[in-house]
Amino acid sequence: MDTELSSPPLDLADAAPASGKKVYVKTFGCQMNVYDSERMTELIDPLGYSETSDIADADLVILNTCHIREKAVEKVYSDLGRIRQVKDERRAAGKETLVAVAGCVAQAEGAEIARRAPVVDLVVGPQSYQALPELLARAKSTGRSVVETIFPDQDKFAQLPLTRSAKSTTAFLTVQEGCDKFCTFCVVPYTRGMEYSRSVTELTREAEKLAARGVRELTLLGQNVNAYHGEGPDGATWSLAKLLRQLARVEGIERLRYTTSHPRDMTADLIAAHGDLEKLMPFLHLPVQSGADRILAAMNRKHTADDYRRVIRQILAARPDIAISTDFIVGFPGESESEFAQTLDLVDEIGFAQAFTFKYSPRPGTPAAKLGDQVPEDVKSERLNRLLARMERQQLAFTAGLVGRTLPVLFEKAARGAGQLIGRSPYMYPVTVEAHAGLVGEIAPVLIRTSGPNSLGGDLQA
Ligand code: SAH
Ligand code: SF4
Ligand code: F3S
Repeated sequence: MDTELSSPPLDLADAAPASGKKVYVKTFGCQMNVYDSERMTELIDPLGYSETSDIADADLVILNTCHIREKAVEKVYSDLGRIRQVKDERRAAGKETLVAVAGCVAQAEGAEIARRAPVVDLVVGPQSYQALPELLARAKSTGRSVVETIFPDQDKFAQLPLTRSAKSTTAFLTVQEGCDKFCTFCVVPYTRGMEYSRSVTELTREAEKLAARGVRELTLLGQNVNAYHGEGPDGATWSLAKLLRQLARVEGIERLRYTTSHPRDMTADLIAAHGDLEKLMPFLHLPVQSGADRILAAMNRKHTADDYRRVIRQILAARPDIAISTDFIVGFPGESESEFAQTLDLVDEIGFAQAFTFKYSPRPGTPAAKLGDQVPEDVKSERLNRLLARMERQQLAFTAGLVGRTLPVLFEKAARGAGQLIGRSPYMYPVTVEAHAGLVGEIAPVLIRTSGPNSLGGDLQA
């Protein structure tokens, strides 16, 4: 048979990726956005897009945005200003650039983004990105900006590719989306919609795919992950604890974590899992926001400081060595000095291993933004600094307490120093160790010798 072909057969040419297209993705906000960014790159991979870290090289720029605080939004618009310059320069060189804004700013501001920043070709919300290839084609062919921010009836996840790429030994897996809690400061219920849980079967399949690609540690994600109530293979509604026990059976998955949780949804079965599910790591991110009951009520958190203390006591009873991490907001409207002092007291009492601390940022459309008695910026900054100082002391004490212990470390990647690897301890903190590159993906014992506020160092044990 004649095999001489001047060009590949048509069907092959159609299937082959259009060579050399590049996408630059920048992710803001929470881990759920990290997960969504990964899924978006997987979706456009068949269109021939590979990732670049050089924006000047990018045929497509995706900003996956966050609306949680004002600063995060300002950053998006300042980035868009810079991207306009890049697009102009590329156009002068005869190259086209498509600019997409995804994520929670896209959902919250919709068409307003394209009005304010005409450089934007596509605005796509977190519930609509499964249609990304089609939306990009539409933006390209019409030359007008396309805005897609509906909450479609169909299940977004069911329309995403079944394949998963994995670049690391750790991965995120979104199990739940949205939030029905309506804390008065928070935009999430408006940008991510109502609570929705994926089915156990779908999640098991995705976890198996990730494990087959070398993932050893899975972090289950949800804006309210412990409110998970997905359909089990038996048709019944499964809790997060039951889902964790199921995923612990997936071959190759050695470690499990989950984030972010609400104190109200720390159920007895989930607390029990911390006691007896070996693969569930001893680290829990449980945002408290404030130590003052009047503020917690004004925030509509649906728990008191004592409720929080009680939950922590129960978790510690199940898993005494667990590291507790949290979020705080300082300067919520009406927060007095003595109420802030109650937050500081709670810090001392609980002994958090880690905390994310934020100055209250009024968000358009949320009830708290309309409250009188907004706390002046300088007072917020001063409180934030005091809280940060208190937390740093505590973080140092926590990591110092690990020195001398031998911990199982999951090796992730090369460290900056030659011959060193970075791994993850059970308590989340990264550990730098002299170790052979072949250990990436393995779990090995490390004797912890040094500690800092955010990291550990140690020696590999034979
Ligand atoms: N679902 C999680 C967290 C979602 S947002 C929970 O229930 O706690 C992550 C953190 O951002 C929140 O815990 C809160 O501390 C902070 N945050 C949310 N809205 C904020 C606002 N308007 N101003 C300042 N911080 C805010
Ligand atoms: Fe926001 Fe509250 Fe929902 Fe967390 S629980 S996502 S803070 S509304
Ligand atoms: Fe931000 Fe949206 Fe996550 S507002 S914190 S990216 S859910």
